[in-house]
Amino acid sequence: MSVHSSVDGAGARPGRPVSIHDLAAAKARGERFVMVTAYDAGSAALLDELGVPVLLVGDSLGMVVLGYDSTIPVTLDEMLHHTRAVSRGAQHALVVGDLPFGSYQDGPSQALSSAVRMLKEGGAAAVKLEGGGPMVAATAHLVRAGIPVMGHLGLTPQSVHQFGGFKVQGRDQQAADRIVEDAVALADAGAFAVVLEAVPADIGRRVTEAIAVPTIGIGAGPDTDAQVLVWHDLLGLTAGRLPRFVKAYADLRAEISGAIKSFQSEVADGEYPGPEHTY
Ligand code: KIV
Repeated sequence: MSVHSSVDGAGARPGRPVSIHDLAAAKARGERFVMVTAYDAGSAALLDELGVPVLLVGDSLGMVVLGYDSTIPVTLDEMLHHTRAVSRGAQHALVVGDLPFGSYQDGPSQALSSAVRMLKEGGAAAVKLEGGGPMVAATAHLVRAGIPVMGHLGLTPQSVHQFGGFKVQGRDQQAADRIVEDAVALADAGAFAVVLEAVPADIGRRVTEAIAVPTIGIGAGPDTDAQVLVWHDLLGLTAGRLPRFVKAYADLRAEISGAIKSFQSEVADGEYPGPEHTY
């Protein structure tokens, strides 16, 4: 599904922004789609132009843009700053703002105040929060207030210390069943989609069959309704070892290195700027 085809497919005005209902309709039609993370206006505008229907301003911001070791230190104000930029860049795509650690774990009313800021100040159309269990009540509270909520289960990075590292979740039967039950509870509470991160493919398939709203996988196998990747991972901008689930579709680190080296050597050699670059 692209922004434009989904809109046309739904019989709506061409160019209408993507809504949560378009995503549900895509699942009903068996049409797979992608979500990509975005953190600034330029990349958001490009993704939008390319017809990517959902842009996630992930709290991965902390690790891929802000230089933190985990997503734990990311603040709501940092998320809002980048969500505003992405919202300015996106014309059609659904912008989802991640609620960072500490901005919703206190309960439904804290979740509501943070989510309201994400929509009013960040310009997002929806929020994402991590976890099942107690987050089901927060999800229902936000949905009652008219705020679309995307759930996130499996390896939820804000719980990295509880997991003892970035580890695959749901390996044993009990843990797998728990993830499926949490997904059903989130969907019953009104979540419009559920991200499944780093879980065995069987869980991706079971959850996708169990709920009517789209599942968006990242390391959850081939059977989810959609796939999400982090911009930097997808484009080969991430240095070092990548999780097994990442596929880099380009090697932009190499491209950028080549360009910077050429700039350095042309300046050193007096080759740049040439007459054509000079007033
Ligand atoms: O923060 C993020 O980028 C995410 C995605 C990896 C799903 O939560």
